Amino acid sequence: MLKAPSEASIKIGKMKGLILSGGHGTRLRPITYSQQKQLIPVANKPILFYCIEDLINAGIKKIGIIVGPNKELVIDTVRSVNWDADIEFIYQEAPLGLAHAVKISEEFIGKDKFVMYLGDNLLKGGIKNFVEDFVNSDVEASLLLTRVENPEQYGVALVDEQKKIIIKLIEKPKKPPSNLSIVGIYGLTSIIFKAIDDIKPSWRGELEITDALHWLIESGYQVRYDMVNGWWKDTGTPEAILEANRLILDNLKTENKGKMINSKIKGKVSIGEKTIIKEESTIIGPVIIGKDCTISGSYIGPNTSIGDNGQIINTNVEDSIILEGTKIIDAGKIVESLIGKEVCIEKSDHLSGGKKFIIGDNSKVGI
Ligand code: DAU
Repeated sequence: MLKAPSEASIKIGKMKGLILSGGHGTRLRPITYSQQKQLIPVANKPILFYCIEDLINAGIKKIGIIVGPNKELVIDTVRSVNWDADIEFIYQEAPLGLAHAVKISEEFIGKDKFVMYLGDNLLKGGIKNFVEDFVNSDVEASLLLTRVENPEQYGVALVDEQKKIIIKLIEKPKKPPSNLSIVGIYGLTSIIFKAIDDIKPSWRGELEITDALHWLIESGYQVRYDMVNGWWKDTGTPEAILEANRLILDNLKTENKGKMINSKIKGKVSIGEKTIIKEESTIIGPVIIGKDCTISGSYIGPNTSIGDNGQIINTNVEDSIILEGTKIIDAGKIVESLIGKEVCIEKSDHLSGGKKFIIGDNSKVGI
């Protein structure tokens, strides 16, 4: 017999999800010259897909995705998957702030409660409990918070721990009043549109959602909070992306669809279809290797993700993310690296005149 849906799941079914996938991603250049930062893969899956999955797993079936000037690739990548949700795209001409992104989504959201999810955030354990608590509450907004060492880089909250409500919010304060950072997942109601209409752009020229939430508090509305369980990452920098890769690979399922020839693997390793590991290669997990790759005479060490169509020949790679179609040949040892798509790194036989580079703007090379 079919089980009747619970009251909470009916309410959640009416909610909307809003993922923010616009913005410039300047701290991730040069990778973000050719694609949005939210499409950078962590454990071979775009960061944005983890956000979409979290919303769907929480029971939300109508999702709007804010896209910016690089919108085509985001739209094509999202549409390449058959999601169990209706997804529509909302175009934001320029990154004028998180609250601006919410404002231009008013027609999509209507009067429904919604969850805003920043498309560069990764959270262990999903948002199911957070969404259930929010939908069953009568507060006007609910935030997730976590303790951080560098609160000046985030939105910061001052809270009443007994009542579980927020009493003050400030965006990237020079002198943080606490070490409680706002995590990029917000439960909101349509009252937020009124708040956004009443706030002014911040010193960085953006309409800040933190200011709109602070407006709610000042106007007597309740903004409650939950603490994050497990880890959370704002993947805004290469270091944070590599750390997220380690954390996600930690829970990797072992699956070998490739072909091993005279090579060995140890630990949690996932290898895609038609990938060949040969010539005494060693793979020590956690490692994920996509499909149609060739790994030959190489060592692939822990915390490495290699995208589809990669070639690693006579090279040691460890603790790195290598995007699809990249070739690395006779390159010695590579560690803690984030390497883009279709890159070629190859030892040259003609180095008497010095090292040879063809490297785009804002690249970083450690020699
Ligand atoms: O990650 C948590 C932090 O996120 C919070 O602690 C801060 O309070 C909050 O303001 C936000 O700060 P960031 O400076 O990290 O936000 P960022 O500019 O990186 O934008 C977050 C996401 O939203 C990112 O995926 C890009 C997208 N975005 C951003 C802006 C400014 C848009 O889609 N449109 C925009 O106009």
